[in-house]
Amino acid sequence: MSVVVLRTAEEVRKTVEEWRCSRRIIGFVPTMGALHPGHLSLVSKAFEHADTVIVSIFVNPAQFGPDEDFESYPRTLRDDIDKLEKVGANAVFYPEKDIIYPEGFSTSVHVSNLTDTLCGKYRPGHFDGVSTVCAILFGIVKPDIAVFGRKDAQQLAVIKRMVLDLRFDIRIVGADIYRERDGLAMSSRNRYLRPVERTQAAALFRGLSRAAELAGKGERDTGRLCEVARQIIAKSPLAVVQYLEIVDQDTMKPVERLDGPGLLAVAVRFGKTRLIDNIVLDPGASYKED
Ligand code: PAF
Repeated sequence: MSVVVLRTAEEVRKTVEEWRCSRRIIGFVPTMGALHPGHLSLVSKAFEHADTVIVSIFVNPAQFGPDEDFESYPRTLRDDIDKLEKVGANAVFYPEKDIIYPEGFSTSVHVSNLTDTLCGKYRPGHFDGVSTVCAILFGIVKPDIAVFGRKDAQQLAVIKRMVLDLRFDIRIVGADIYRERDGLAMSSRNRYLRPVERTQAAALFRGLSRAAELAGKGERDTGRLCEVARQIIAKSPLAVVQYLEIVDQDTMKPVERLDGPGLLAVAVRFGKTRLIDNIVLDPGASYKED
């Protein structure tokens, strides 16, 4: 069966209502399009929890800063639909801007605390844009579950908090990071990298993996773990680290000592392209034996 393209909130409501009448569990994957295998793995993840999956494609202006890539963000609808058809998605919601933000739109959802650190520090207003658009999309689609990738770990934490605080009756599911063969996390922005930057970008995962390995062997000093990852990334001369920090996975607050799993998160610039990645550090058995 081919994927249905829905353009308005009414079309989505009607379609989802029909699915619900036939007792189907509804899964939702919000995206900004330019789909790559990482996005398609989110759809597969949604099918682990739902019978029917709807994907939204909306390049959300509210989450881009004035100097960011909103205008140039890749828009590849035809190709995206072909890919979604292949993975069996049931519907695509592809709204125009005024369907999401009609005239007079005046609301913003701000999740505090979790948005002060990491990307929140460098992209003011970004998470307000993300949580607002997700709240709108959740209100239109009303899914049972929604899937978000763990590459955007802070986004996942923000959405989980919002769903809890605003009592959306939606289960938020995190999906593992999907990586290229050399470890680079898949991202729609990887296509901006020049070949030499693309080669050097593999250092992110090398740095993160080395820190995870040391943490697994019992290293608990987060300063030391960060330094190890930073030195490996610094071997790529084009990499400019914006932040590299170990934080609590739920609160996104910095952690000084690993007394349990922590999230090592990094943002690096290669020229105009900004990449993010992360890995969970688990202090491991040697720590428990102390
Ligand atoms: O992760 C993304 O692609 C976007 O932030 C999202 C969740 C689709 C909201 O615009």
